[in-house]
This record gives sequence, C-alpha cells and structure tokens, in this order.
Amino acid sequence: MAAVTVATSLDSRVTLNSGFEMPLFGLGVYKAASGDNGEAEKAVIHALQYGYRLIDTAEFYSNEADVGRGVKKAGLKREDVFVVSKIWDANGYDYCRKLFNEAFKKMDIGYIDLYLIHSPMGSDNCGTYRAMLDLQKQGLIRSCGVSNYGIQHLEGLKTAGLPTPSVNQIELHPWQHKSEVVKYCRENGIAVMGYSPLAKGQRFSEPILTKLSERYGKTAAQVMIRWSVQKGYITIPKSAKPARIVENAQVFDWSISDADMAVLDKLPQKSCTWDPTTSPWRG
Ligand SMILES: NC(=O)c1ccc[n+]([C@@H]2O[C@H](COP(=O)([O-])OP(=O)(O)OC[C@H]3O[C@@H](n4cnc5c(N)ncnc54)[C@H](OP(=O)(O)O)[C@@H]3O)[C@@H](O)[C@H]2O)c1
Repeated sequence: MAAVTVATSLDSRVTLNSGFEMPLFGLGVYKAASGDNGEAEKAVIHALQYGYRLIDTAEFYSNEADVGRGVKKAGLKREDVFVVSKIWDANGYDYCRKLFNEAFKKMDIGYIDLYLIHSPMGSDNCGTYRAMLDLQKQGLIRSCGVSNYGIQHLEGLKTAGLPTPSVNQIELHPWQHKSEVVKYCRENGIAVMGYSPLAKGQRFSEPILTKLSERYGKTAAQVMIRWSVQKGYITIPKSAKPARIVENAQVFDWSISDADMAVLDKLPQKSCTWDPTTSPWRG
C-alpha cells in the first residue's frame, strides 16, 4: 500500500497514478451561487488569492463557468491551479463527450485537471469512463476519477479491463469513515478525496466538537477539517464567506492528539447526504 501523505500546508500535494500532482486541500463550491461577479466566482478568487490551489465543482452545481472566470481572474498561472469537475449522469460514451464539451467551453481554462463520474448511478459507467480516457489522451483531461464509488463499482471497472481511477471522492468526516472503501482505494493506488468534511454544518453543536474546540482553541469547523487532513484525505470544505475560507485553511500548524483521534474514530456513523457507494453496479 502506498504511504499516506498528510498535508503540511495549503500547497501540499499527492502524486496521482496518472503521474500528475494534486493539492491535498481545496475549496468546494456546491451551492455557491452562479452569476457574473457572483458568489461562486468571488469565493474562487478569494480562495486562490489566499493560497488555496484546488477548486472542486461539478456539472450539477451549475457554476462551472463561474469557476472558470474565477480561475482566470485570480491572477495565478493556470498550471498552479488544480480544477476538478464531474459529469452527473454516467450515461455512456457519446453522452459523456457531449457533456464534457459543454463543461469545457463553459470553463474555458484549457484543460480540466481531474474529471470525475459524479456517482455510479448512471446507466453506462464503463462507456462514460472510456470517453473520459479518450479525452485524457487528447490532453483535455489530465486525470480521470470517480465519486461515490463503493468497492463493487471499483471492482466493476477492473473486471471490465479499465485502468484504475486516479481518485475516488466520497463523503468523509468524523461521522462518516467509510473505512472499507478507503482501505480498498489505498491498497489499489486510488487517491482518497473526502467531500462534506464539515458534514454540511449539521454537527457543529455535538458535545465532542465543543470539547475539542475548547481543548485546542480552534473552531468546530477547524477540528473537523483537521481530522480529514490528519487522515491524509484530499479535503474540500465549502464556504462562500471570505472569513470562513480563511478560517478553514488554518489547520496546518497544530494537530489533534492520537487519543482524541481515537475518540473521533469511534463515533456513530451517519451520512449527512446521499450514499450511492452502497448501490448495485450497473456496468
Ligand atoms: N461528489 C459528491 O457527491 C459531493 C457531495 C457533496 C459535496 N461535494 C463537494 O464537497 C464540497 C464540500 O461539501 P459540502 O458543500 O456538501 O459541505 P461542507 O463543506 O461539509 O459544509 C459546507 C457548509 O458549512 C458552512 N461552513 C463552511 N465553513 C464554515 C465555518 N468555518 N463555520 C461555520 N460554517 C461553515 C458553509 O456555509 P457558508 O458557505 O455560508 O460558509 C456550508 O453551509 C462541496 O462544495 C462539493 O464541492 C461532493
């Protein structure tokens, strides 16, 4: 199993099985509102100018164009920013080529660093993935990956003779460990990317977070994000608020003790959103 890389700064990176490096920390933009000079665009500019290097969007979030504008306006070199997007319905080769072309035009940033199948719920995951591999050969996508894939889905791709995805993005926070999927990914060279690291803000008043916030002098959000960082996950807390974008990045100069991590490892598990990782493989 490859050694787990723990981020020590906003710019810490992990090398993917595609050979490209990916930042371990970034900004999620689900529900950041679209619009010229709007919420999503401003959040991307603020995050990148503060030092974030990874932005996670998706066709489903309706803000790919905003992310593209933000990336261009932030004033960084394109190669210093890592942009992730996702195709919502994995409905086959031609459908993926069409949807990708639309996303590519909207974003207008030359290439997409990592393109993910948003979930295994579509009708033709293998055809979709083959289209992504061809887009990768054309240089339009640098790395191909998946999201919300359980072991049965990853095994499905393998059985179809397809190359191992670079990344699997799944829900990960102290109330959602997904240990078996994480173990499988790590044994198979798939980088583990966690979404909803703040459990969408649903857990901030949990007594354990209040206790750890007081112990470390950090906010509940910072404790949750630090948990993801210490686990070695690529993590993408979402905020559209400038002060929170800064707060969420203050997680590299302190750590949670092993004893407290062990307590967080024993919390009851509950998803804060959907969980397609348990769905059947549709091929
Ligand atoms: N692949 C998938 O199926 C999938 C599913 C869900 C999410 N994602 C990705 O993962 C990203 C993160 O997940 P998420 O957006 O679901 O949830 P999250 O990051 O766990 O939580 C975001 C929520 O927490 C609030 N928040 C952020 N920082 C805070 C702070 N310091 N103090 C208090 N509240 C704070 C945000 O509000 P404000 O914006 O108002 O600050 C927002 O309501 C998404 O944006 C998306 O990119 C992927």
